[in-house]
Amino acid sequence: MQETKQQGFVVWMTGLSGAGKTTIALVLEQELKGRGLRIERLDGDVVRESLTRDLGFSKEDRDKNIERVTFVAKLLSRNEVGVICSFISPYQAVRDMVRAQTTNFLEAFVDAPLDVVMARDVKGLYQKAIAGEIPNFTGISDPFEAPLTPDIHVRTDQESVAESAQIIIDKLESLGLIPGVA
Ligand code: ADX
Repeated sequence: MQETKQQGFVVWMTGLSGAGKTTIALVLEQELKGRGLRIERLDGDVVRESLTRDLGFSKEDRDKNIERVTFVAKLLSRNEVGVICSFISPYQAVRDMVRAQTTNFLEAFVDAPLDVVMARDVKGLYQKAIAGEIPNFTGISDPFEAPLTPDIHVRTDQESVAESAQIIIDKLESLGLIPGVA
């Protein structure tokens, strides 16, 4: 039986907590798996309960978190798996490191203004961070270096989840990383 050759790639979603990274990643995963593609998803909240559960949120620990995830994304992407990653990953230098180590890396900026994600406060974390109960909280007491030249830029304060996911799919198709649907 002849298998259709699939290209490995990494869609790396970076953005503030609550910007919509995981939500878009789930829709994207469902759509691409529905097309019969091999897809794996790596998510900060999940990975931090297993592979990186010993790590906190200092710059050093955030860098280690991303380094370990990069190792996994590297193995998968070089073996023709499409990898969807959702991590705050606030530092540009580390995102550039992921790009250098993985196959067909696309930096996707999941963008929503701080006042919008604070108003959403899906997990109630911003309220706690403002009250001083969570130290080093991205956007409040810790930096977020927004990508200056992302490969993909979605604006979740202006687009629906489906629209943001479609922008990413269009990019993957235009680069020939996934086949278009007839
Ligand atoms: S990263 O900075 O190392 O890339 P990652 O994406 O894995 O972060 O984890 C972020 C998630 O951890 C957030 O969505 C939130 O649920 C939780 N979290 C707990 N403490 C913090 C904090 N100080 N800053 C940001 N997120 C935090």
